[in-house]
Amino acid sequence: MNAHDTGKPRVALLGLGDMGTALARAWLAAGYPLTVWNRTPSRAEPLAGEGAEAAATAAEAVASARLVVTCLLDDESVGSALADADLAGRDLFNVTTGTPGQARARAEWARGRGARFVSGGIMAVPPMVGVPDSGGYVFYSGSREAFAEHEEVLSAAAGAVFVGEDAGAADLYDVALLSAMSGMFAGVAHAFALVRDQDVPLKGFASLLADWLSAMTLGVHTTAEQLEGGDYTAGVVSNLAMQVRGNRTLLRTAEEQGVSTELLAPYAELMERRLAQGHGDEDGAGVVDLLAVPRR
Ligand SMILES: NC(=O)c1ccc[n+]([C@@H]2O[C@H](COP(=O)([O-])OP(=O)(O)OC[C@H]3O[C@@H](n4cnc5c(N)ncnc54)[C@H](OP(=O)(O)O)[C@@H]3O)[C@@H](O)[C@H]2O)c1
Repeated sequence: MNAHDTGKPRVALLGLGDMGTALARAWLAAGYPLTVWNRTPSRAEPLAGEGAEAAATAAEAVASARLVVTCLLDDESVGSALADADLAGRDLFNVTTGTPGQARARAEWARGRGARFVSGGIMAVPPMVGVPDSGGYVFYSGSREAFAEHEEVLSAAAGAVFVGEDAGAADLYDVALLSAMSGMFAGVAHAFALVRDQDVPLKGFASLLADWLSAMTLGVHTTAEQLEGGDYTAGVVSNLAMQVRGNRTLLRTAEEQGVSTELLAPYAELMERRLAQGHGDEDGAGVVDLLAVPRR
């Protein structure tokens, strides 16, 4: 299909790294006319062969469409890529990963240039983009009107979940989920370090690990209920005193196996501290309190 004949609105996409290229292919496959720009022009060439218009400059790309999507390395690259672009009357959707504070500042910056602004946090890896049942989606926050206007286009690439008019909300959700993932992968690395040089078939072990982690994630609902209700002893299944005792076994096993405790120790130390404060009848929710750092 010729992307110019679809009657669908044009999308301008800035940034053709792994994620930007996946977004580009999803919009082309869905029949959206697409203008692309990338700092290194050669990355636009394959997409030009697939029906995209390659713009010579970011400003030219921005001028081509009301919906402008930036998918760049970081917030700084968004500022530099758009420095010379006229954003008046544009709807800027920035799906570049950033902090909530960066998103709020970028929203002000965009509004000052006459654009509506929406920040996005992509909960997907490139192969999940444009694949309807992949489970991938994007958090969006900022201008509700701009989101409503472009939701259909956005949804052609990945599920679109609007989480509020505070431009920083999408990045907060995104980074919170990524932070949990980071902790999980830290645990996975430690588990493989324990068993790798032993007589353990790693592929079979991986299946056990995936099933165990999936089963344990159900505990997040109890944590939410405890934090909302304020009673951290409600619905406790595995009390903190027992868990701290268990942690000592985890740390000792690591030492026996010749594995560093550096990934496990910080969390174990926080749990020890909460127990020392007299909260042995809770489970993990009290650690959330310990993590709060007073703002300066
Ligand atoms: N890949 C993933 O799995 C994934 C998942 C979720 C979210 N994300 C987010 O999506 C965004 C893009 O990720 P990616 O995987 O596409 O990254 P990537 O493959 O490293 O691509 C980075 C892109 O940013 C451009 N860029 C870097 N610095 C720039 C600058 N100063 N000015 C203009 N353009 C600049 C690069 O242009 P050049 O080609 O010229 O270097 C390239 O287009 C990131 O914020 C990332 O966190 C990625």
